Amino acid sequence: MTIRLAASILSADFSALGRDVDAVTRGGADQVHVDVMDGHFVPNLTIGVPVVRSLRKATTLPLDVHLMITDPDRFIASFIDAGANLISVHVEVLPHLHRTIAQIKKLGAQAGVVLNPSTPVSAIEEVAADVDFVLVMSVNPGFGGQVFIPRSLAKIRAVRALLDRVGNQAAPIEVDGGVDLNTVASVVDAGAEWLVAGQAIFGGGATESAARALKDAAQRASHGGRR
Ligand code: DX5
Ligand code: ZN
Repeated sequence: MTIRLAASILSADFSALGRDVDAVTRGGADQVHVDVMDGHFVPNLTIGVPVVRSLRKATTLPLDVHLMITDPDRFIASFIDAGANLISVHVEVLPHLHRTIAQIKKLGAQAGVVLNPSTPVSAIEEVAADVDFVLVMSVNPGFGGQVFIPRSLAKIRAVRALLDRVGNQAAPIEVDGGVDLNTVASVVDAGAEWLVAGQAIFGGGATESAARALKDAAQRASHGGRR
């Protein structure tokens, strides 16, 4: 298993993003997770293309852009042009998911599909061989600092089994929501390799050490993992 810690800047200080990104980088974060919300698909508003463009100048870490918006197709090219390396889109809003995945890859980014807690794994069955990664939401999207939904563990296992069955063993599972020192081991044990964390990293004031502690815990849990 290749553990990657994705620091969600949703819980960072937006007036000092460069400083906070530097802190998580020192703490061992592997990518910067950017939560884009439109106040329509989810009941919150966050940030858009200009912030991704600024982040691109501030870090060499991959920018992992999670689009929680009703019409992602309209914005994918702009986010990739701004410097996004990974783009994940929610299956709940995309009637032509296969085309969207192809578009993300054609534009040079890695393509991920996201499942809300109430969305069945079967929703991605026909595209499972085509994706670069799958993002399993372990909270209902919209806000940081929510409680991990335990049923997500079974979902991670089911997604892993699906990816393996269709021959996409290389595609990792990313998990997003409520990942902290209490939940990280079970998430890794279930088969997740990329761990998004916001509140657990930025919530306590000691950003660098919090990132390091979470990454260490994830790596310890991955020892003996099957991938
Ligand atoms: C929620 C976002 C998450 C969020 C996770 O809609 O997609 O990325 O920042 O935050 P924590 O780690 O605080 O649950
Ligand atoms: Zn997210």
